[in-house]
Amino acid sequence: MASNRKDVTIDNKIDDLPKIDTESRRPIYLDYNATTPILPEIKNVMQQAVDHAWANPSSTNHILGRTSRRWLNWAREQVGACLNVSDPNTEIIFTSGGTESNNWILNYIASMKPSSSTLPHVITTAIEHPAISQPLKALSRAGLLTYTIIHPIPRVGSITAEQVADALQDNTVLVTVMAANNETGVIQPIEQIGQLVREINTARQMQADESDNPSEYVPLFYHVDAAQIIGKGVLTEPGKVDVKSWCAHYVTIVGHKFYGPKIGALYVKQGIPLAPWLHGGGQEMGKRSGTENVMDCVGLGAACQISKKNNEKNWKPFTLVTSFLRKTTHVDVQRINSSRFKTIHPKHKRKHRKIKIQQ
Ligand SMILES: Cc1ncc(COP(=O)(O)O)c(C=O)c1O
Repeated sequence: MASNRKDVTIDNKIDDLPKIDTESRRPIYLDYNATTPILPEIKNVMQQAVDHAWANPSSTNHILGRTSRRWLNWAREQVGACLNVSDPNTEIIFTSGGTESNNWILNYIASMKPSSSTLPHVITTAIEHPAISQPLKALSRAGLLTYTIIHPIPRVGSITAEQVADALQDNTVLVTVMAANNETGVIQPIEQIGQLVREINTARQMQADESDNPSEYVPLFYHVDAAQIIGKGVLTEPGKVDVKSWCAHYVTIVGHKFYGPKIGALYVKQGIPLAPWLHGGGQEMGKRSGTENVMDCVGLGAACQISKKNNEKNWKPFTLVTSFLRKTTHVDVQRINSSRFKTIHPKHKRKHRKIKIQQ
């Protein structure tokens, strides 16, 4: 019997949205290390993904699913090209953001057993984002790993590869260093540290080969939190965005720091182990299950493409802005947000003291 559906009304109107303050003057927003607005061009591409790539990208048995899969693949290729990876299809995994990517790596490292009697040891820096320092603290409190914090050189804001070498222990399995700091913008010597990690691995391998037990080899992995370097116009050495020149095994990528949506990715070098993080439908090469958020992945891909394209063009204007700020604020721009107030012009000192510093 046919049912009478006349009494059913579907109401798709969205009510009670949060108020948008249109009365006050538009604020001047300068905190692009916290987040950036999405570029109109990227919004446009994301809208196209919403309209045309909304189907489940795993439903490749029909044309709509295959379209989504194509857009997702495109996004992965853009991220891969931006970082100069060897094979985006196997080396780029989409995540919800930098916090997730960092937690994933550290939790995986915590599950390692360098030897029957030692915990995994991690080398990190005092200037890492809480997305590294807090999980490290939690994992150490849980008795799953130990770690050493390297302090940057005063007034320079950067650590050195020698400090990493000094902190090395037999059970060190990970070095995790941010590429650029979110407060000071100081670029860390990630290429040199990567080179050092490579040399340490060669030495450890030789030592294990010469010993009676070749399985003694304890690999040292290298993770770079690249959240604050991609899309910042950094082209020349040091700090070129290139996972190969960094000799990195794992790299964290965060889309909303360079005009993309609030989503992230993780680069995992081919052949480098990483246990699955989320179990379920086997998406993202079986490493991070869950239906992919195609629209945001596409937004991240678009941001990566734009960043790669504009890197060369941006370098000059960035240096001009830096020198303009130096001249007009009398502040060493590199330290404008750091805890070292000594460099701030005396006239501005009191005001700056009120700023809460996150280290
Ligand atoms: C260096 C660095 N790593 C990780 C993150 C965390 O990114 P998200 O908050 O998007 O997870 C941030 C965000 O500020 C960051 O600056």
